[in-house]
Amino acid sequence: MTKTYNFSAGPSSLPQEVLRQAQMELLDFKGSGMSVMEISHRGSWYKDLQAETIELIRQLLQLKLSQQPIFMGGGASLQFTLVPLNLAQGRKCYYLNSGSFAKQAMLAAQKLAKQFSVTAEELATTETIGYVSLPKFDSTTVDPTAAYVHFTSNNTVEGTAWPTLPKVTSVPLVADCSSNIMSVNYPYHDLALFYAGAQKNLGIAGVTLVVIDRSLIDVVSPESDVPGVMLDYRTQIEKDSVYNTPPVFAVYMLNLMAKWVYAQGGVLAMEQQCQAKSGVLYDYLDASTLYFNNVEKSDRSINNVTFTTGNPDLDQQFVKSAAVEGLVSLGGHRSVGGMRASLYNAFPMDGVRALIDFMENFRKDHS
Ligand SMILES: Cc1ncc(COP(=O)(O)O)c(C=O)c1O
Repeated sequence: MTKTYNFSAGPSSLPQEVLRQAQMELLDFKGSGMSVMEISHRGSWYKDLQAETIELIRQLLQLKLSQQPIFMGGGASLQFTLVPLNLAQGRKCYYLNSGSFAKQAMLAAQKLAKQFSVTAEELATTETIGYVSLPKFDSTTVDPTAAYVHFTSNNTVEGTAWPTLPKVTSVPLVADCSSNIMSVNYPYHDLALFYAGAQKNLGIAGVTLVVIDRSLIDVVSPESDVPGVMLDYRTQIEKDSVYNTPPVFAVYMLNLMAKWVYAQGGVLAMEQQCQAKSGVLYDYLDASTLYFNNVEKSDRSINNVTFTTGNPDLDQQFVKSAAVEGLVSLGGHRSVGGMRASLYNAFPMDGVRALIDFMENFRKDHS
């Protein structure tokens, strides 16, 4: 059988060790005689699992004591609505519109204006130039009474990423870190709130990690009109993420992934590996006569490398032929086309080399 390398942007590759561990424990979780999928979320097996997972996250991301990790459902997309609903009622909030998911987050906040007193403003954007670089902005224009500035740390579709956190000091910084959490060693303790769907670097779909600085919640008035207990961050914090049944298996996978990252040397080691993997591919692209990456070099993502031949038919042929060789899910996002190699933490360097070999053969055949 040809070896498969999965370049998907999410759900994405998981480390073999993690999959084997899950397989080994599938029928009997920690001597319980039950699968982890069967244990009660009120029992000590789950309580211990969740507590250990939170501790690992705290250590890996070097969180402050005031930063509380919680687990929620609904994907990162639900956070697009929950963040403004919980934090920005009666106040302004700003968005750095650096890509399609960043825009979705802003539009979700703006949609709330019909029923709630939320005013979401675009602080800066590069939409008119196809998001090929990150937006520049003047932080002195930020109203210091605003609830937050929201940004997307890695633009999964376009292949750009903030190399460092955007400089905003006057108001809290909120981030969608879905596609580069634990791949970039940001000072996560400088973020007032951040969130990430788990299906890229944290395991499998079904759980969203949300980390909230409690001081942020303290400034929300107790009467704040957050409709529905499940949508209120305070419920999740007070009930320790088990107000209702949590996605136990997804939290278990997050636990295994966090341990795996730990064993690899932590987030900095992950960043170095992702830099090395993407660096090899960018070097090849920059020297290529057939393929190119059209993103501003200083803003390139180390997790999602986008490229194209400039010919949509040839791009399609590339994606199909690559899949036959076991290099799967290389198609770019449906909104932009072209190709995208997603190189998250678990993706191996061997896969990058296999891709480059394939690209070179394809180039020779199509020159
Ligand atoms: C940066 C970013 N934000 C949000 C999302 C949406 O995530 P979910 O499918 O978990 O709602 C994605 C999905 O790929 C993403 O890459």
